[in-house]
Amino acid sequence: MNITKNDKICGTITVPGDKSISHRALMFTALAEGKSEIFGLATCQDVQSTMQCLKDLGVKITTEGNKTIVEGRGLLGLKKPGKILDAGNSGTTMRLLSGILCGQNFESSLTGDTSLQKRPMKRIIEPLQLMGAKIGGTQNKFAPLNISPAKLQRFDHKLKVASAQVKSCLLLAGLFSEGKTTVFEPAKSRDHTERMMKYLGADISVKKNSVSINGFPSLKANSLTIPGDISSAAFFLVAASIIKNSTLKIKNVGINLSRTGILDLLKMMGADFRLKNKKIHNNEKSADIDIFYNQLIGIEIGGALIPRIIDEIPVLAIAATQAEGQTIIKDAKELRVKETDRITAVVENLKKMGANITELADGMIIEGKQKLSGAEINSFGDHRIAMAFAVAGLLAEGITTIKNPECVDISFPDFFQKLEEIRND
Ligand code: S3P
Repeated sequence: MNITKNDKICGTITVPGDKSISHRALMFTALAEGKSEIFGLATCQDVQSTMQCLKDLGVKITTEGNKTIVEGRGLLGLKKPGKILDAGNSGTTMRLLSGILCGQNFESSLTGDTSLQKRPMKRIIEPLQLMGAKIGGTQNKFAPLNISPAKLQRFDHKLKVASAQVKSCLLLAGLFSEGKTTVFEPAKSRDHTERMMKYLGADISVKKNSVSINGFPSLKANSLTIPGDISSAAFFLVAASIIKNSTLKIKNVGINLSRTGILDLLKMMGADFRLKNKKIHNNEKSADIDIFYNQLIGIEIGGALIPRIIDEIPVLAIAATQAEGQTIIKDAKELRVKETDRITAVVENLKKMGANITELADGMIIEGKQKLSGAEINSFGDHRIAMAFAVAGLLAEGITTIKNPECVDISFPDFFQKLEEIRND
């Protein structure tokens, strides 16, 4: 995919349904009693992986236009799959589904693509084993994962890293344990599980840095509306902020506080945006975002903010190259175990484009006001790297070529069409 320089971007767009909320909507309504209707579910490959796994577990799921109907089977109603379940590229599918499968009374195995087979699974295997689960993987660390039936016991977990996937996995296992399971986090990660579980009737309580859930609730089917994905909107928020004369409206974007680190940071960097038309559906807030070009300034980020912008750091790094002054990103070593090592991927590719950037063990230092030149970009098959560098390509002199651009299908299948729309508006 070739991207060339663009003078300004403008128009009105929507982004796909939130991927994190979509995974949960499918899984949790599958465990509920009765038929749920989901509006605006993401259609991306990762969510398709969750849908296919659930179908393989005997869940009937049908799609009518923008509406997805899930016939819930209750907590213990899933069926033994006739094959190895395939989570594809999706860490959320693998980690959340593992929590559910450990509580079922049948054997199952879960695998994924070569990227997912390299991602750390010890972080779920060990705590699940502490609950009595029979789960193992390659070297007890990696997928494929094999799960056998076992009686689970409640447990209080203290997470080493702030991870919504690990937290959710353990809360889901807690659904199948008598009594209260509590997960403590070092910093607050996204809380879609907590919000949706409550909405569907689970007995779940949230404190500052811990979440507790009681086992064997009766989850009730309900209708769910999925807001647009702020992680997908982030590419356009950054593009509009750094390309002169841009004005853009992004409609119906999820603004859950545990996800709006990108808005907080852009604001700190001097971005010019407004939230309008705020709504709330199934405990999740959304708004339209109007954003305009403004000269950004560099910042230093780290600490508790990192889990709230973890997926947006690649595109934030692109914004930093255009800011006035230096940007320092630290405490973000989790980026090294995403779909690819996103610290190395960002640093290598930005260097190719001529930026002045230094790799740190847990982040990077980016000099501002850099002139970027077109280059051949290795996406490493990572959707967020491909999209972040497409945004960089809009600023660069010459042609930017994104290798393996089809990986954007993982989270944002029509990303390049949307980009085209706002270039030519
Ligand atoms: C996600 C949590 C985050 C995020 C991922 C989606 C989720 O991962 O990076 O894209 O839906 O729970 P971690 O929980 O591993 O940080």
